[in-house]
Amino acid sequence: MTERTFSIIKPDATERNLTGKINAVIEGAGLRIVAQRRIRMTEAQAKTFYEVHKERPFYGELVGQMTSAPVVVQVLEGENAVAKYREIMGATNPEQAAEGTIRKLFAKNVGENSVHGSDSQDNAKLEIAQFFTEDQIVG
Ligand code: CMP
Repeated sequence: MTERTFSIIKPDATERNLTGKINAVIEGAGLRIVAQRRIRMTEAQAKTFYEVHKERPFYGELVGQMTSAPVVVQVLEGENAVAKYREIMGATNPEQAAEGTIRKLFAKNVGENSVHGSDSQDNAKLEIAQFFTEDQIVG
């Protein structure tokens, strides 16, 4: 089934000019980038986005990291986009990520792990709505 997922190319990746290389992996896997914008995430946006992690010890570090440099927010579309993007991102910790995945190729560590992708269709809808209106998504 064609569906959408939400992606963030994180500061550690934009800082190293990896946006194009990451987009090449995304498009090479058959996912279509149907919306994309480079933004400087505000502290309020980052706190809202990662609210589910607010009790975790790394929450402050995570918010600091996500606001430290520009990010690229994206909507990806394709067959089973949520699961497919999680597969090509690889494990959260790059040390555990499979060969050829974005995190294996580019991530520095578990905190600076280059990309975010939604973990479910419900969260994808919520995350997309935080950053895009429907008219900004061109499938
Ligand atoms: P992401 O997919 O964006 O969702 C939550 C993020 O928290 C995750 O990627 C990591 O960047 C970050 N994270 C998860 N575990 C840790 C950890 N142990 N230390 C620091 N950051 C973490």
